[in-house]
Amino acid sequence: MNGLTELGFVVCGYQGGAKSVVLVCCGDDSGACGCIGACGVLAADFGNSKKATIVKLIDLRSDTVTRPTQEMRQVMASAEVGDDVMGEDPTVNALEAKMARMFGREAAVLACSGTQSNQMGVRVHCIPGDELLIHETGHICNFEGGGPAALSGVSVRTLSGHGGMLDVRDLEGRVRVNDQHFCRTRLVCLENTTNLGGGRVYPLEVMERVYAWTREQELKCHLDGARLFNAMVAGGYTAEAVGRCFDTISICFSKGLGCPFGSILIGDGDDIRKARRIRKLFGGGLRQSGMIAAAMLYALEHNVERLADDHRNATRLAAGLRKIEGIKNVPEVVETNLIFFEIEETLGSAVQFAGAMREESVLIGPMGAQRVRMVTHLDVSEADVDVVLGAVGACMQRGFRDRPVLGKGPFSR
Ligand SMILES: Cc1ncc(COP(=O)(O)O)c(C=O)c1O
Repeated sequence: MNGLTELGFVVCGYQGGAKSVVLVCCGDDSGACGCIGACGVLAADFGNSKKATIVKLIDLRSDTVTRPTQEMRQVMASAEVGDDVMGEDPTVNALEAKMARMFGREAAVLACSGTQSNQMGVRVHCIPGDELLIHETGHICNFEGGGPAALSGVSVRTLSGHGGMLDVRDLEGRVRVNDQHFCRTRLVCLENTTNLGGGRVYPLEVMERVYAWTREQELKCHLDGARLFNAMVAGGYTAEAVGRCFDTISICFSKGLGCPFGSILIGDGDDIRKARRIRKLFGGGLRQSGMIAAAMLYALEHNVERLADDHRNATRLAAGLRKIEGIKNVPEVVETNLIFFEIEETLGSAVQFAGAMREESVLIGPMGAQRVRMVTHLDVSEADVDVVLGAVGACMQRGFRDRPVLGKGPFSR
């Protein structure tokens, strides 16, 4: 196994009868350690050995796996707070004002998650029976539990476009005629960076063009900017420029920015007042939310510029992957922190590959029969990239076709 360091801690893991290193724990089998309850299994499997090796688990499944640093936890613990539903949390108020100012807009509202702020955006602009236009790989229509239909009575019309992006040419002719037979086309949703589209960055002029077109068509335009700071760092455009291209913008802080949770919806005063009511309806009116707002303010100060490191690491990882036999369709250009590629069918499936990589202490995301996603983030260093490449090489050489299939979902291990 690669990447092991003798530290006198116990590494444990147990899955389906096979020994495998999956969890790092402290070696205390009294149960008091809180190590996900695996220590008992460990004692049986490793013969009570107190001397074992500890592995740094490199988790490339998503940039949502980052954990708040000690510094972030400290600012959370000492945040000034109040009741945010009553509008009395000074830290939340400061965050919302800062985000609105940054994007040159009137207002912003804190949300629990990107899913919540996106669905608030859909509900702000649409009424039941309306339709939204979105790329076929869009998060809003693929990964949010059918939210537009379930929460807003909105149907979704999916379109194709390059790299998960939509330009005016992809949207033209898709607005339904105003007639009693049809639903009312009301909203266009873009995603920047694109997730399933491969971490692609919208050029500013495309966003400007689409927005001008939506205005001509009397449509609204919402941005799923879960990774908008990645896009701004890679694309070199300002928040104000993006702020001019959308009616509402949702941004996540629990991805590359390293917060435990928290998103924001930005827009004009009336829309955000409406969004606040919708947030309450969706169960997202939290009270002393200043604790999370403090983490988000901290992230804005400390974790934005460093996103360029994640992009550099992803580019290096992609370059290494291209050289490994059995890996195919690594994109020529990796713009941000997401890399999608495929595994040669003869070697096994993406889920089997993920299982093999897990034994090398690297977690990755199978995203289809052969498709795999790797994501760089705050907790992945340049040195980790080399460990990952070594692990991929080892798996490819050893093969993984005979591995049991342990799941089917996008994040199956
Ligand atoms: C593009 C995109 N939008 C929205 C979300 C939803 O964010 P959350 O997981 O905070 O609900 C994600 C999550 O991965 C995402 O990738």
